[in-house]
Amino acid sequence: MKKIKDVTAIGPASSANLGSGFDCFAIALDNLYDTVKITKSENPGITIKNLGLKTGIPNDPKKHTGGIVAINIIKEFNLQGINMIVKKGVTPGKGLGSSAATAAAVTVGMNKLFSLKLTDEEKLKFAASGEVASAGISHADNVAGSLFGGFVVINSSTCEDIVSFSPPKNLHVCIGIPKVKSVAKKTGKARKLIPSKVKFTDSVSNVSYAAMMVAGFSTGNKRLIGKSMNDNIVEPARFSTIPNYYKLKSELLKIGALGVTISGAGPSVISFLDAKTSIPKIKQCFKKQFKSAGYDSSVILTKIGKGAHVIN
Ligand code: HSE
Repeated sequence: MKKIKDVTAIGPASSANLGSGFDCFAIALDNLYDTVKITKSENPGITIKNLGLKTGIPNDPKKHTGGIVAINIIKEFNLQGINMIVKKGVTPGKGLGSSAATAAAVTVGMNKLFSLKLTDEEKLKFAASGEVASAGISHADNVAGSLFGGFVVINSSTCEDIVSFSPPKNLHVCIGIPKVKSVAKKTGKARKLIPSKVKFTDSVSNVSYAAMMVAGFSTGNKRLIGKSMNDNIVEPARFSTIPNYYKLKSELLKIGALGVTISGAGPSVISFLDAKTSIPKIKQCFKKQFKSAGYDSSVILTKIGKGAHVIN
């Protein structure tokens, strides 16, 4: 087998939680991704060059999501050094799994470059280790979405079980991104808003929503998927960080969105639509409702996509 010197991998953006699946549900987003080129180096250690969006992400591997993943893989398998070029396509701080996109691309890239034959659980563990750089803890939902694609369910306590479902046909994803001031370590701060104790009745409703979301994806029932995008625990704790959130949600549902919730830790808001929903009306609604709270916004239309992969 010919030895390869470099690989290029892409890692898609993702949207985590989808309502009640805090830390255990995510989807990969189509057509929005980071690209990472990894080259074997004669010298030990890691160098990183950041290209693409101007993100202010540091080049220091110890402070860089992809760098941390690479450090951990190199250490575990006693590998030689690498040079990495990271082209950011996913803007950080928007609740779209920007750091996970890089972490997933680095994981699958190194797996291929060094023929590591990592299991899915090992890939998840290494990619999640990179989340420490942005979230302060290694939550694994975004990296699961980015790594495996589709709608992914993981056991957040053990990270040992990973199940990915293909999306039903014509399930569109429309995401509104308000131009709020970016907050350093936003995910870590948003996690501090979540109560440490919850009401039993709220936990019962959340279990029902989560179970029905999985049932919706496993039977391809778009209406059930949308109806299950609800959450009585995290959404009420975080809604105030998103401009006009509940009004926006109710207006989007009125004009035909199947379901609406906060994307990851926000501030983006994700909606699922089907072929009957008017996409222009949904886009206009996002813009109008964010604007009425004083914020410009951008809106992206996408689908649930495939996971991170090597492109050459
Ligand atoms: N489950 C994580 C959170 C996702 O909501 O804190 C962050 O994108």
